[in-house]
Amino acid sequence: MPRSVPYQPLLLRMLHGVSGILAIAAIITGFLVYNTYDGRFGKIPFPQQGDIQGIHGTFALFFLIVLPAFALYSFHAGNKRLIQKNSWEQISQVGQPIWWVSLQRLANTLMLIASVFSVISGRMMKEEWLPAGEIHHIWYSLHITAWAVIVCCLAIHILMSTKVGGAPLLLSMFSWQVRPEDSPSNWVNRYRTWWSSLPTNFGERANQLLDNNLSLRIIEAFVFIGVIVAFLLPLFFSE
Ligand code: HEM
Ligand code: HEM
Repeated sequence: MPRSVPYQPLLLRMLHGVSGILAIAAIITGFLVYNTYDGRFGKIPFPQQGDIQGIHGTFALFFLIVLPAFALYSFHAGNKRLIQKNSWEQISQVGQPIWWVSLQRLANTLMLIASVFSVISGRMMKEEWLPAGEIHHIWYSLHITAWAVIVCCLAIHILMSTKVGGAPLLLSMFSWQVRPEDSPSNWVNRYRTWWSSLPTNFGERANQLLDNNLSLRIIEAFVFIGVIVAFLLPLFFSE
């Protein structure tokens, strides 16, 4: 029986679509920068692209600008797709259906962590280094390592989503269908309804907001501090 295509919230598809395209563009153009000025770990015969660094920097900076919005969505409205408080024990149930789902949630979460590693090291890159053959800088080594990490995470992310939900799940992220209740005109009301549904008592509200998922909150703090560092670090500290 063919699997039906699951419905993914429009806001998720928009944020995931934009940040996914920008990340993949940064991955490809980043590789071309490496391929043009370095190539120590292997090269492909590819015609030199004029200002490939500038092209890469543009995609990458837009990715950095969109990342906080995507992360905020993922850690809150989308948190059921990220690691859950019992994911760690479920990951020991090798081969069980829940094992695959937990690995997929972990893969989704790793995409956010790998993104932070890429943008922080990217922001510390100087465009004059590589054309001058200066490939020894620690930030460049960290940045190409970050490229390898995000490429591996992306492969695992797509593999795990395919394993858990097959092509219908992958396609669900690219569907243009919008259910009436999910139309943007309802978002403010839905947000207001959700916010007013939270307990008035601060302690209970914080508990509900943090849903006792400490490991996810620690990762959320790492991601948001990382994004702030990516924006600010180049202003205070450069080699
Ligand atoms: C081998 C792969 C990569 C290489 C050789 C590379 C190289 C560079 C270079 C040379 C810069 C400086 C560009 C400029 O200042 O105009 C840069 C900046 C940057 N890179 Fe990469 N990069 C790679 C992969 C990535 C990936 C995968 C991401 C993120 C998904 C990324 C995100 C960034 C960011 C956010 C900046 C800062 C842009 C800015 O502040 O304008 N890079 N990268
Ligand atoms: C062709 C590339 C991609 C495909 C096919 C893809 C596919 C998917 C799918 C099917 C889901 C939903 C999983 C579920 O319902 O549990 C998902 C979620 C997610 N993806 Fe991707 N993805 C891609 C690229 C990316 C990139 C580049 C990033 C990171 C920058 C990323 C980050 C995420 C995150 C964080 C989630 C969870 C969102 C939430 O918590 O609501 N994905 N992706």
